[in-house]
Amino acid sequence: MAHQYHPLGFEGSRIAQGYWRLSEWGMSDQELLGFIEQCIAAGITTVDHADIYGDYECESLFGRALKLKPSLRDELQIITKCGIKLPSNNRPDIATHRYDHSTQHILQSVDQSLQNLNVEHIELLLLHRPSPLMDADHVAEAFEHLYTVGKVRHFGVSNFTPQQFDLLQSRLEMPLIVNQVELSPLELKHFNDGTLEHAQQHAVTPMAWSPFAGGDLFKLSGISPTLHQALTTIAEAHDASIDQIALAWLLHHPSGIAPVLGSGKIERVQSAQKALELNLSDDEWFTIWVASQGHPVP
Ligand SMILES: NC(=O)c1ccc[n+]([C@@H]2O[C@H](COP(=O)([O-])OP(=O)(O)OC[C@H]3O[C@@H](n4cnc5c(N)ncnc54)[C@H](OP(=O)(O)O)[C@@H]3O)[C@@H](O)[C@H]2O)c1
Repeated sequence: MAHQYHPLGFEGSRIAQGYWRLSEWGMSDQELLGFIEQCIAAGITTVDHADIYGDYECESLFGRALKLKPSLRDELQIITKCGIKLPSNNRPDIATHRYDHSTQHILQSVDQSLQNLNVEHIELLLLHRPSPLMDADHVAEAFEHLYTVGKVRHFGVSNFTPQQFDLLQSRLEMPLIVNQVELSPLELKHFNDGTLEHAQQHAVTPMAWSPFAGGDLFKLSGISPTLHQALTTIAEAHDASIDQIALAWLLHHPSGIAPVLGSGKIERVQSAQKALELNLSDDEWFTIWVASQGHPVP
C-alpha cells in the first residue's frame, strides 16, 4: 500500500470531493448542505474548488450552504484555486480568457473566494494553471502576504511541470505541498513525464483531477474493450466496482496520489471510500497499465 505521505501535508482526507460541476447538480442550499454532511460522514472532508468553477458561481453556492450550518466549516479542509481569467456574464470586467499570476490578481481573487465561500481562511490555495508570464517573485509576494495575514494556510499548484514548480518554489519560503494534475487509468501522461517522480522526490502530494476521466471510464465509447475487461476482471476479484478499482489503482502509486472526485451523487462518493481498503497487487496494477497503454511493457 502506498500511503507513506500524509495526504496533502495537512489534516485532509486522502480522497477529496470536487465541486467543479456543482452548478449542474441542481441542488437547493439545503440539499447541498445534506450532501456536504454526508461526504463528511463518509470521511471525505477535503473539498476542492476554484474561483472560476460554474462561471464563478460554484464557490458562492457552496458558501450559501455552509451559511446554513457554520459549525461545519471546522470539519472541512477547503482548497480553492486562482490564476485563470474567464470572460463571463458574471465577470464583465474580464475581456480576455487568459492567465494572471500578478500579486494584485491573486490577492483580489482570494478575497473574493473567501467572501463567496463564506469563510475567514482556506487551508490550501493552488495556482490553477502555469502561465508563460508568471513572475515567481510576484506570486511569492502574494503568497507571503496571504500566509502572514492568515487567509491561506498552505500553498500549491495545479497542472505545473516539475520545472515550473521548481521555479516558483525557489522564490518561496513555504513549501508548495500539492501539484494537482489529471491522472486516471485513461490519462497516463503524468506517469511518464517526471511529474510523479518530482512529487515523490520533494514529498509533494499529487492530487488527481478527473480520476474517472470525466466519466469516460464508464462509457463504452470512452474506453477500450481491453481496459474495460481488465478493470472488470480485477473488480470481480476484489468484489468491488470499476470506480473503486480505478481509485485503488491511483492510490497504489508510491507518490501518494490523492484523488479528487467529481460526482454529485452521494452514493458514488460513499462508494469511493471503499477504495482505501482495497489492496491491488503489482500484477493487477500493471495489468491496468498495460491495458490502458494498449501494448506490453518493453
Ligand atoms: N486542477 C484542474 O485543472 C482541474 C480540472 C478538472 C477538474 N478538477 C477537479 O477535479 C474534480 C473532479 O473532476 P471530474 O468531475 O472531471 O471527475 P470525474 O470523477 O473523473 O468525472 C465526474 C463525472 O463522472 C461521472 N461519474 C462519476 N462516477 C461515476 C460512476 N460510478 N458511474 C457513472 N458516472 C460517474 C459524474 O457523473 P455524476 O455526477 O452523475 O455521478 C461526472 O459527470 C472537479 O470537481 C474539480 O474539483 C481540477
